[in-house]
Amino acid sequence: MLLEAKNVAKHFGEFRAVADANLTVAEGDVIGLIGPNGAGKSTFFNCLAGDTEPTAGTILFDGQDVTNASTETHARLGIGRTFQVPATFEDMTILENVMVGAFMRHPGRADARAHAEKIIEMTGLREHAHLRARSLGTPGRKRLEIARVLATGPRLMLLDEALAGLTPGELQQAITLVRRIHETGVTLVIVEHIMEVIMTLTARVLVFNQGHVIASGKPQDVVKDPLVIEAYLGHGHGKRARKRGPAA
Ligand SMILES: Nc1ncnc2c1ncn2[C@@H]1O[C@H](COP(=O)(O)OP(=O)(O)OP(=O)(O)O)[C@@H](O)[C@H]1O
Ligand SMILES: [Mg+2]
Repeated sequence: MLLEAKNVAKHFGEFRAVADANLTVAEGDVIGLIGPNGAGKSTFFNCLAGDTEPTAGTILFDGQDVTNASTETHARLGIGRTFQVPATFEDMTILENVMVGAFMRHPGRADARAHAEKIIEMTGLREHAHLRARSLGTPGRKRLEIARVLATGPRLMLLDEALAGLTPGELQQAITLVRRIHETGVTLVIVEHIMEVIMTLTARVLVFNQGHVIASGKPQDVVKDPLVIEAYLGHGHGKRARKRGPAA
């Protein structure tokens, strides 16, 4: 197994954002992680990527215990994650932002630049490469966030709503990009509210609710699971839940 997360919990005081989560990822997998707002998906990613220490549980990456390892160690071992709110250096150019990621495995400036340029080409950012990050709109920002992580040379990429906020046309391009990334040998776990992304890209889905995995299976089966429908629609049938839920 590439990643094994066993009984992972993250508590904030009395509150159990992640209660007892298990996830195994084999090399080459594309796994979806869905669930309503506040279910604990991003917090679980924080635990997996070393951005926070879990309260309990064990996380093994390629057999190595990384439960309490630093973000740097996670990145060096090959766990890359995008942030729901992109972690961009606003006053740096797109190329410089991607170079920050590239330095992980290309310590020399010229090497890092050459590697970053390849990533920029692959992610469709070529025409923006010399603009400052702050000038990018949503689609560019989402691409840059993916490019920055891709440049670190991950074996496993955790995408946290990396395709949110795109127009239908931009979404199709982003799906193509994610597929291409997978074809280069990167294993993926994808948190996404857009069911089209989950249905198109993933072979297995885990459903999070209140810090627990409440269902897992093939995407077409999971969306029909009454527990899953209840998790999305059960809380007062809110407009947002309907819009972002599995039936959307
Ligand atoms: N640092 C923190 N301190 C206290 N509570 C937190 C902290 N981080 C997250 N939470 C809470 O943990 C719960 C899970 O949040 P999380 O961001 O993981 O949900 P999510 O599934 O990613 O939701 P969304 O789909 O809206 O992104 C939420 O109730 C959130 O308010
Ligand atoms: Mg989140």
